[in-house]
Amino acid sequence: MDEQQILKRLDRIREIPTLTSIVFELNKLLQDPDTSVARISQTIEKDQAIALKILKLVNSAFYGSKHRISDVRNAVIMLGFNAVRNAIVSVSVIDAFSGLGRLKNFDISDFWKHSLAVAVTSKNIAMKTRRNSPDNCFVGGLLHDVGKVILAQYLPELFAEVWKALQSEGCSFLAAEQKVLPAPHPVLGAHLASKWQLPPGLVDAIRWHHDHQPASENADFIMIIHLANIIVNSYDENPECVIDLGSLHPEARKFLMNSLQNVGDWYAGIVEEIEAAHAFFLQNR
Ligand SMILES: [Fe+2]
Ligand SMILES: [Fe+2]
Repeated sequence: MDEQQILKRLDRIREIPTLTSIVFELNKLLQDPDTSVARISQTIEKDQAIALKILKLVNSAFYGSKHRISDVRNAVIMLGFNAVRNAIVSVSVIDAFSGLGRLKNFDISDFWKHSLAVAVTSKNIAMKTRRNSPDNCFVGGLLHDVGKVILAQYLPELFAEVWKALQSEGCSFLAAEQKVLPAPHPVLGAHLASKWQLPPGLVDAIRWHHDHQPASENADFIMIIHLANIIVNSYDENPECVIDLGSLHPEARKFLMNSLQNVGDWYAGIVEEIEAAHAFFLQNR
């Protein structure tokens, strides 16, 4: 089986969730430079469940707004168009993949914990470096590993093979995938993201998050997600978050050293925000 065959097989799986149709409508509206707050708000209000979640989000500790926001219109004004679309993508993706049953050897709540940590870290790197939109980077971090869920849930016999390789080789998940699977999780995730019609930068960030320096007009976006993933994994191994600079690609090393010299201290400063994101996005799950 080659990469194309696996992707074709994915395309035939009907159960793979899709995003709320609101996301597609918003994508269209946001391409129109004359779009208005009223049109955006009306679109969101068509889906009451989403409207409610957006209000909960802007009023949550995670958002940290000082004023109580009681309607969608004000939420749109406060967040801005792009941030609203990204917030809807975020809640809708977590919703879509949280209702899954128990999966063998794959803990979905650990998965979202990691993804949210990478999301908040990416957002903060973007804010600090001003190299990309913090909102886009949040969604990029949230979705970077979504191919893993696809693999575990919808290609279970391939996932089992990867798992076997992982156990016997004691290597990384990606290395195990590369041994037995022609389409590793970044490829699967990017395929899904483009089917969902998410912006090309986001698709690229998912596709290349394990590669050091792909030639792409979205190189900064990719680099931010790539580094955030490394930082979160290093922190999980050791809270001092010592990153082996020698193992980084020279570009990634430069990027890190120019902007985040003391990663351990810097990360400690965002831990609270990561916890607030967990509390909001993973509540009742
Ligand atoms: Fe990954
Ligand atoms: Fe990851």
